Amino acid sequence: MFTGKRVLLIVSGGIAAYKSLDLVRRLRERGAAVRCILTKAGAEFVTPLSLSALTEDKVYGELFSLTDEAEMGHIQLSRDADLLVVAPASADLLAKMAQGRADDLASTALLATDKAVLAAPAMNVRMWEHPATQANLALLKERGVLTVGPNEGDMACGEYGFGRMAEPMEILAAIEEALAASPAAASGGGPSLNRPLAGLRALVTSGPTHEPIDPVRYIANRSSGRQGHAIAAALARQGAETTLVSGPSQLPDPAGLKTLHVETAEEMLAACQTSLPVEIAVCAAAVADWRSVARAQQKMKKNGAPASLELTANPDILAELSKAGDLRPSLVIGFAAETENVVAQAQEKLARKGCDWILANDVAPASGTFGGENNQINLIRAEGVEPWPQMTKLAVAERLCREIAATLGR
Ligand code: C5P
Repeated sequence: MFTGKRVLLIVSGGIAAYKSLDLVRRLRERGAAVRCILTKAGAEFVTPLSLSALTEDKVYGELFSLTDEAEMGHIQLSRDADLLVVAPASADLLAKMAQGRADDLASTALLATDKAVLAAPAMNVRMWEHPATQANLALLKERGVLTVGPNEGDMACGEYGFGRMAEPMEILAAIEEALAASPAAASGGGPSLNRPLAGLRALVTSGPTHEPIDPVRYIANRSSGRQGHAIAAALARQGAETTLVSGPSQLPDPAGLKTLHVETAEEMLAACQTSLPVEIAVCAAAVADWRSVARAQQKMKKNGAPASLELTANPDILAELSKAGDLRPSLVIGFAAETENVVAQAQEKLARKGCDWILANDVAPASGTFGGENNQINLIRAEGVEPWPQMTKLAVAERLCREIAATLGR
């Protein structure tokens, strides 16, 4: 998956540093070359020897090491990678990054790089919630630094809340997304930003919705959220200020954007409406068409099975956004998941819903689209139909972004 990719992993101080050892192992298993910078504080938690054994490379620590500078200067170290990953990213290192300080090897490499930077913050919940940390993070995101996590949970210090570093598998997914970006878009961490959607706002819906019948049962569908999440991540990488409104999904929140979690179609519509105005809206969610009229407060007993389930139509979020008056996004894009007559049905949908484009895809079981990695799209606009070859959902997201940028004159 990462064959030929070079990751510079910066390990700063924090108990979560032990998870970085696992991250290195998993990156190596997937074919990436990993080089590590270990900060002084990081070395209190993991040893250079462990990292060196796992990376099969030397571990860099000192800024003023004559040997290191002779072998590989600190500028070269940061340029030699495809991606810089800071995991764990301590509150202190995030503060240094925000200020542009360069008083050790890690901060110097981060300041000198022209590559994308992905940070996985990890700290005590109070430090995480502190306005100083939040302001530093907002500034870094504005400059294009990608983030993953932190997660909520018990902390090593005995407190509970946000601050646990994302799990290695979540960081891997974020690394995959960051690396999937085109080389130009991946320059998020550096000053030479080439992000065609910068200055625009985007809204993406993704995943299924769950429509409760009682506290434990719900109506749902097989959507994984992969396509919508990939589109949201791609829009964010291209510079759009992106909000992802996601129904229940196993996927981690993509790096570098705001994710709102919802369960039902009605909650999804409300979250979308509060996210307006935006210039770009992409409705990739597989919204349940109907919900149960009644929602039992207690779990329904199986021997008292209802003779029927009365259903009512859910709001159509795509249609609502398409007729949002002054708040209508300049470009409203929907999907049409069909199992037959894909193009004809999608053309009818374009007209009926009033959106600008429809990405029509075949979701017949044999296509493997639902829950799978690949998709085959027909892009349907008023002016005609453009069939795209079969490609991964990540590639669909990238191509859609290019179409959006071209249409919006970027
Ligand atoms: O009508 P159909 O469900 O096939 O339309 C699919 C498109 O409409 C998708 O873009 C989907 O996200 C959107 N949609 C919606 N709200 C609904 C139903 C579908 O936004 N209630």
